Amino acid sequence: MSLFVKKPLSALLADADDSEKGLKRTLGAGSLIALGIGAIIGAGLFVRTAAAAGGHAGSAVTISFIIAAIGCAFAGLCYAEFASIIPIAGSAYTYAYATMGELVAWIIGWALILEYALGAATVSIAWSEFLNNLLGGSIPYEWCHSPFESALDAAGAIHHGIINAPALLILILLTLLLIKGTQESAMINAIIVIVKVAIVLLFIFIGWSYIKGANHTPYLIPADQPDAIQPDGKPYSYSGFFNHGWGGVLKGAAIVFFAFIGFDAVSTAAQEAKNPKRDMPIGILGSLAICTVLYILFSWVLTGVAPFTDFIKAGKEASVAYAIQTYMPNYQWLAKLVTVGILAGFSSVILVMLMGQSRVFYTMSTDGLLPKTFSELHPKFRTPYKSNMILFVFVGLFAAFIPGSVAGDLTSIGTLLAFVLVCVGVIILRKTDPDLKRPFKTPLVPLVPILGIIVCTAMIISLWGTTLLSAAIWMLFGLVVYFLYSKNHSKLRK
Ligand code: ALA
Repeated sequence: MSLFVKKPLSALLADADDSEKGLKRTLGAGSLIALGIGAIIGAGLFVRTAAAAGGHAGSAVTISFIIAAIGCAFAGLCYAEFASIIPIAGSAYTYAYATMGELVAWIIGWALILEYALGAATVSIAWSEFLNNLLGGSIPYEWCHSPFESALDAAGAIHHGIINAPALLILILLTLLLIKGTQESAMINAIIVIVKVAIVLLFIFIGWSYIKGANHTPYLIPADQPDAIQPDGKPYSYSGFFNHGWGGVLKGAAIVFFAFIGFDAVSTAAQEAKNPKRDMPIGILGSLAICTVLYILFSWVLTGVAPFTDFIKAGKEASVAYAIQTYMPNYQWLAKLVTVGILAGFSSVILVMLMGQSRVFYTMSTDGLLPKTFSELHPKFRTPYKSNMILFVFVGLFAAFIPGSVAGDLTSIGTLLAFVLVCVGVIILRKTDPDLKRPFKTPLVPLVPILGIIVCTAMIISLWGTTLLSAAIWMLFGLVVYFLYSKNHSKLRK
């Protein structure tokens, strides 16, 4: 049988309707939008905005956000069409199984592990950093860093990381919550989303009156921008192509792309949506639209309150707290509050990423491509609890022992690859099954998917380097697993 054997749509839809034995349908449109925002606003906004502005785009990081949002919108429109036709857990993996065949589906499923599992690891590492900030740095360096990291203390003694224990702590807590139930998880997520959005709005409203026009001029970093001094005393040069002007804006877009990752996680919950055909597109596109507006306003205020060169010297990680402490003297109380809100915000990103991953594993396992354990449901809670526990071990290994920067770019590449393949899938399905009932239709096919492919590929290319090599090795490893295990266990082939 061919490697490109496709899962018939009719079989997929029958599976979806068989809700008796499957996951519970508990989520409405509002919960789905909240799920999206829960996964979207996190380390990308609160950590990477400052990095993109400080080193590459300056105040024009607002334009970087617009470019990244356009790429996501094209892909989001394609996701919405699929999610409305095939309302089944599994997201891009499932869409590919129906349109491009088993091997491509496997490749996407494998790429999604980079997105969700490594995404959860990345944000749990950021969570650990912010917790330590909040506690005034009282967690010993050894116990909140990976063995690949080291630093000098004030007395000049060197410290090496051993294990990132706080990252493990937040992962196990959220894993237990997920096992308890999707509805409970969705409820806690909704509360966190309100806190998180409130923090962003508060910063925008209060910060607005502290914007200095001079910080926004010139808008793009000029080619003759003098070097900035980094925390270790070394100069940072703006002369490179990607460090000023439009090149810098593009590089900034690739960096802040991480901030949008997660809107597609809505589609992994399709099998738990009450009315997926109507609510999936609302959930995906709604959360994307709301976050885009918030991001543009947020980055406008952040780079208006503090000069972008500050973010090379200081406040890179805790940029919001830094801007408040340094430039908004009347609002010192806000800095601590923001940090608490951000910690909560990171938790919901991790929660949705872990949930998305276990749902992708669930579907791959029901198809026979992964062992049965991944789809065994808890007798009482009806959640894939064994899968959640295995996932904790896997994500935990990364979170405990790998530096956050390595995991972050891998997450972006895996996501972009899945986006490109979903865009291709829409074009294919329009050709192979033109009469299929599509409750939501991507407009202007094939233009929109083609533009999605172009923008996302451009972002993959700008993440060129060792990360791309690591991603390629991961994908090759996936092919080995496919040919040694999955191909022989595939239900479709039997
Ligand atoms: N978009 C998510 C974040 O920024 C992954 O943390």
